[in-house]
Amino acid sequence: MSLPSDAFRHVASRPHEPLRTFHPRRATLGRDREHALAHLWPRFGFSVHDDALGGAPTTPYGTLDTRALFGRDAPLVLEIGSGMGETTAAMAAADPARDYLAVEAHLPGVANLLVLLDRAGLTNVRVAHGDALDLVRRRVAEGTLDAVHVFFPDPWPKARHHKRRLVQPAHVALLRSRLRVGGTLHCATDWADYAEQMLDVLTADPALENTADGFAPRPAHRPVTKFEQRGLDLGHTVHDVVVRRVR
Ligand SMILES: C[S@@+](CC[C@H](N)C(=O)[O-])C[C@H]1O[C@@H](n2cnc3c(N)ncnc32)[C@H](O)[C@@H]1O
Repeated sequence: MSLPSDAFRHVASRPHEPLRTFHPRRATLGRDREHALAHLWPRFGFSVHDDALGGAPTTPYGTLDTRALFGRDAPLVLEIGSGMGETTAAMAAADPARDYLAVEAHLPGVANLLVLLDRAGLTNVRVAHGDALDLVRRRVAEGTLDAVHVFFPDPWPKARHHKRRLVQPAHVALLRSRLRVGGTLHCATDWADYAEQMLDVLTADPALENTADGFAPRPAHRPVTKFEQRGLDLGHTVHDVVVRRVR
């Protein structure tokens, strides 16, 4: 099996396909991450876009076979845009009864999480490389997720780029449909206007209920990531929004 590259992004950004919510980037991997990809990808990783690189195990219905993927049946947490994977690794280590599927479009982040999960000996984490929205649309069965995490999504600060933001009504409706009733969608950002957008969009969906009165208190179980720290260093305030599917 060959190893993944960032080449899938050319496919994802063809005309008539949904807009990308991530920045296309190329970066060198470095020795540890190359090593992690070579050794851990076949066991813990899969490609959203290219089955030749090791696609997701699927059920006869074409949906993600989570039992085959994790080797057990457990509540599943989906993290969209896991970045370098620090949050995924820390939260999964503290929450061994649930399985974590991290999806990241940027290959060095995928490889870094492979390094972290190997170091910590985590068995409840799998990593997908590619566009998480595409994976959710095509492969995640309705009503199957226990939680969705979207931490510090790309802010796309220019008004003409707001259409690329991950937290927008159509994407929220998609994610909500994949949550079980009672499952939660947790978003966080350090961009003030995006925080307002998150609160508006997430509370406008009639099947979602806010778990707090407005923004949620910062949950202690969410570690501070590099992106979050960068925002804090810039004097930004971090906001969390946690909603629950109620029907
Ligand atoms: C600003 S970074 C934050 C990363 C991490 N959550 C953190 O807090 O450090 C946003 C990440 O989301 C990823 N991303 C954005 N849209 C995505 C999508 N549709 N599928 C997979 N990854 C995505 C980007 O590649 C980027 O690494």
